[in-house]
Amino acid sequence: MKCVDDFRLRFGKQELVPIMIGGMGVDISTAELALEAARLGGIGHISDAMVPTVSDRRFKTHFVKEKLKLYKFNVASADKSPVHFDLGRLSEATHNHVGRTMEAKIGEGMIFVNCMEKLTMNAPRETLRVRLSSALDAGIDGITLSAGLHLGSFALIADHPRFRDAKLGIIVSSLRALQLFLRKNAKLNRLPDYIVVEGPLAGGHLGFGMDWAKYDLLLIVSEIQQYLQSEQLAIPLIPAGGIFTGSDAVSFLEKGAAAVQVATRFTVAQECGLPAEVQQEYFKASEDDIEVNTISPTGYPMRMLKNSPAIGSGIRPNCEAYGYLLDGTGSCAYVIAYNREVGAHAKAKKKTKHISVLDKTCLCTHMRNFDCWTCGQYTYRLKDTTRRLEDGSYQILSAEHVFRDYQFSTDQKVALPD
Ligand SMILES: Cc1cc2nc3c(=O)[nH]c(=O)nc-3n(C[C@H](O)[C@H](O)[C@H](O)COP(=O)(O)O)c2cc1C
Repeated sequence: MKCVDDFRLRFGKQELVPIMIGGMGVDISTAELALEAARLGGIGHISDAMVPTVSDRRFKTHFVKEKLKLYKFNVASADKSPVHFDLGRLSEATHNHVGRTMEAKIGEGMIFVNCMEKLTMNAPRETLRVRLSSALDAGIDGITLSAGLHLGSFALIADHPRFRDAKLGIIVSSLRALQLFLRKNAKLNRLPDYIVVEGPLAGGHLGFGMDWAKYDLLLIVSEIQQYLQSEQLAIPLIPAGGIFTGSDAVSFLEKGAAAVQVATRFTVAQECGLPAEVQQEYFKASEDDIEVNTISPTGYPMRMLKNSPAIGSGIRPNCEAYGYLLDGTGSCAYVIAYNREVGAHAKAKKKTKHISVLDKTCLCTHMRNFDCWTCGQYTYRLKDTTRRLEDGSYQILSAEHVFRDYQFSTDQKVALPD
């Protein structure tokens, strides 16, 4: 019976253990987690979501405070369009996060950065160009473009000296999205180095509508595989979403996948950025505690625990400090929903202290504070991957334990920690 370690992901001459830990923003997939994956011969992701905030936390910089100071005059305003990112500071923050991570890398594996293109930051093209090119400058091994795949992203960095040597990958959830991307980028003569095919059971934002349950990862992967074969394109395919055991991974690898991308199992690793008490919520969750909803201002459905503090919260938007979801006109669906509720309260002459906004959430603030508990569908199985301690809590795992379990387990077994 085969295990994941019987396979290798090949990038040119380089051979890797075919396990890629997916990007989890905001700093849920920490540098420590990515570094472990690289040390063990696989691929780890850091995320560039809200990177100034992450830099502040990691390196005691003051990007957020400085931005808030600059835009303090606007805090009470319903119009957030004056709030902009300083591109130089954004680049500095990316350099800090990516550069220091790469300096710490040991082992044969690689570290990529997950770049969520839906973070439009009130200047989508300019900020994305800075994020991508700064990550390349800082020595990242590769970039995975996710959530909101901008068809023109490769072109933004086409003149960067590392455009052809760094690994560039995309996440798609359908053949159609892939075809659009390839068509749009044909003239650059630069194919993606890998394609992550993310199915409907993944964590974070989904590339499906609320009818996500109709879709099946295996079917999407085989459709894309057939298309690539017919076009004679040899691009490694990396399925993601609901691959919970080594055997699940092997079944994809045997069908021709180059590697697998996994995340949920690592949310309860000690190297993961989620606070310990939130990790216990993930362990405790039952299937009924998980939902896909539409409260993300990005417009994409998102999977999360139903008891996430972010759900229904009506906090004042924090765009002066954050503002990552402001679109090109300085608007965000949460800001609109919040202003609507404030207006309704004012009309009813109610105090605005306890506003609740049910249809959208202030994703920046809640992700920053680990109050939006996004998770994969199989989060309810995490309790079966560890031991219960005497005080009733669940034992946190090491990333190495989870990685090795994926790498060596067979027969749908999950190894429990010592
Ligand atoms: C907590 C969490 C946060 C995530 N955040 C992101 C993200 O910021 N960007 C992204 O492209 N994917 C994100 N994902 C998706 C993962 O990178 C990965 O593709 C997917 O969850 C794999 O499925 P699995 O969790 O069932 O293993 C996230 C997943 C989880 C569990």
